[in-house]
Amino acid sequence: MARPIKVNVPRYLIDLNNPEHWLYTASPPISRADGRPSEEMAVFIRPDDSGQKLFAMTDSIMYKSDPATFVMRPHEHHIGYETWFLDSGSADLYVNGQVTRLEPGSLYHMQPYMLHSMFMHEDVKFRGFFQHWSGTDNVPITQLMEHYQPGLKAKYWEAGLQGLVSDHYIHESFDCVRVSNEEMSALRHPDRPLAKFELDGVTVKLMVGRWECAGVREINYFEFKEGFKAETVEFPLYRELYYVREGKIKFKIFSDEFIAYKDCLVDIPKYIAHSIEALTDSAMYDMGGMTCWYNFLYDYTTILKKYPERANDPAEIETVKKTNGCQIKSFGL
Ligand SMILES: [Fe+2]
Repeated sequence: MARPIKVNVPRYLIDLNNPEHWLYTASPPISRADGRPSEEMAVFIRPDDSGQKLFAMTDSIMYKSDPATFVMRPHEHHIGYETWFLDSGSADLYVNGQVTRLEPGSLYHMQPYMLHSMFMHEDVKFRGFFQHWSGTDNVPITQLMEHYQPGLKAKYWEAGLQGLVSDHYIHESFDCVRVSNEEMSALRHPDRPLAKFELDGVTVKLMVGRWECAGVREINYFEFKEGFKAETVEFPLYRELYYVREGKIKFKIFSDEFIAYKDCLVDIPKYIAHSIEALTDSAMYDMGGMTCWYNFLYDYTTILKKYPERANDPAEIETVKKTNGCQIKSFGL
C-alpha cells in the first residue's frame, strides 16, 4: 500500500506589511476612555523547537498616549527578554529611572528585572522579538478565548491571571532623569554598534551581545555591498530568522528563489542549506542569532591581520568556524 507524497514547504518569506502573512492579530482589552486598546498586534511567528522561545515575532501599532490620563507605571519581566524596533513615529522610553526620546531606526533590548514603560507621542509601529517570554504562549490562547466569547479576555485580565502567568510585573510610578539616546544603555542604533567588523563586501555590527541574552543568542546587523554573496554549509545547525531593513536580497533554497526587501522576515528551518546575494546595497538583522558571530569574527579578523600563515591554512579557519557555530561555507563579493 503506497501513500501519496506530501511535503509541507514553509513560508520562508514573510512581508510584515502583508496581512495575508499574519498568523493572527491580538490586542489587550480596551482600557482607555477613547475606546481604543493601547496596542494592536499582528503576530507572525510562534515559539519554536530551539527550546529558547526565540522565534516569536510581533508587529504592533502602539496607540498615541493621552497626556491627561497617562501614569508612568513601569513593568518588568523576571524571565523573558524583549527586543523592540521602532519603525515609525516617536515615543518616550522609560528604563530604570531614565527617560529618553526614541526615534525610528532605534532598537532597545530589555533584560529581566529592567523596569520599563513608554509614552507614545503619536501612533507608532513597534516590532518585537522575544526570548523566553511566556507572553508569547499566552497571547494565542487569550485570542481563542475572545474568539469564542467576546469579553472573556478582559475577565481573565481582571482576575489577575495575566500578570501571574505572563511574566509581567507592574511597579509604582517614579521620577525619571531625562537623558540622551547615547546615555541609555538598553537603547541601540546601527550608528553606535558595540563592535564592528569590516569584511569583503559586508560590515557586521554587534548590536546586542550574547552576555545580554543569558548566552542564548546575540543580535547582529549585516550591511551588504551590492553583489555580496554567501552560502551555508550543507546542513546548517540553526534555524535562521533575518529581518531585512534596506535593499533587496536574493535568497536561494535548493531550487526555490525569492527576493527579500525592506520590512521582510526570512525564516529558514535548521538543516536547510541556503545562499544569499545582495542585489543592491542592503542591510538586515540576524534575529535567530545562534551563531557566535562576535567571537568568531574577533578570532577570524585577528588571525587574518596578525597571523597570515595561519590564515592560509583552511583547517585552522575551519576550526575557528566550528568552535563558534559559523554555518557559512563561503562569502564575499
Ligand atoms: Fe515589557
